[in-house]
Amino acid sequence: MNKKVIIVISIILVVVVALVIYFLLTNNSQNNNEQNSNNSIISDDSDSKRVVVYFSATGNTERVAGYIQGITGSDIIEIIPADEYTSADLNYSDDDCRANQEQNDDNARPEIANEIAIDSYDTIYLEFPIWWGNVPKIILTFLDTYDLSGKTVIPFCTSGGSGISTSMNTLRNYNQNINWIDGKQFSSGATENVVEAWINSLN
Ligand SMILES: Cc1cc2nc3c(=O)[nH]c(=O)nc-3n(C[C@H](O)[C@H](O)[C@H](O)COP(=O)(O)O)c2cc1C
Repeated sequence: MNKKVIIVISIILVVVVALVIYFLLTNNSQNNNEQNSNNSIISDDSDSKRVVVYFSATGNTERVAGYIQGITGSDIIEIIPADEYTSADLNYSDDDCRANQEQNDDNARPEIANEIAIDSYDTIYLEFPIWWGNVPKIILTFLDTYDLSGKTVIPFCTSGGSGISTSMNTLRNYNQNINWIDGKQFSSGATENVVEAWINSLN
């Protein structure tokens, strides 16, 4: 073999090796990109359908529910009692008022007037006012009527000051197959900014 042939073969070998290295590197970075986009699909749950489901007797919870709907871009559905609560029903300083009787009765399940089309939603923001430190019984009617097992539920409440932890215990024990996320109490007059700060902290 003369010198010229050796040089040509060497050049061909160098080019082939360079091409192989180039191919390996580009293929690897493509795999990484695919992996990253898969990761972002896992962490970005924008495909998850969300809904705010709320019960409100005097409008405070309804206002906060509206903020949550606006901030999260969720749908919104009200739990409407078949028998609406009058102010006499809600007069908690009267031991015999309807709300107090219901809260004192483990079996009370006030009827819901409307159908709540919940099946297509994966994430539910469940909102209610605190009654005697706990969830109003109509929320348990909701959980009895619709099987939310396997869904993610984030409870919110409004109250004059009582926290949400007793309600969280009630809800977690009531259906242990729901993915309950620790909830949040808002004051009856909570502003949209306060609500937004909490929603952002969830993400
Ligand atoms: C029957 C009843 C019991 C209540 N119990 C409590 C309570 O234990 N702690 C509290 O902080 N607020 C209590 N509240 C106040 C409500 O939680 C508060 O006003 C709430 O924002 C009302 O929401 P709504 O307007 O959506 O019905 C009670 C109100 C009612 C009507």
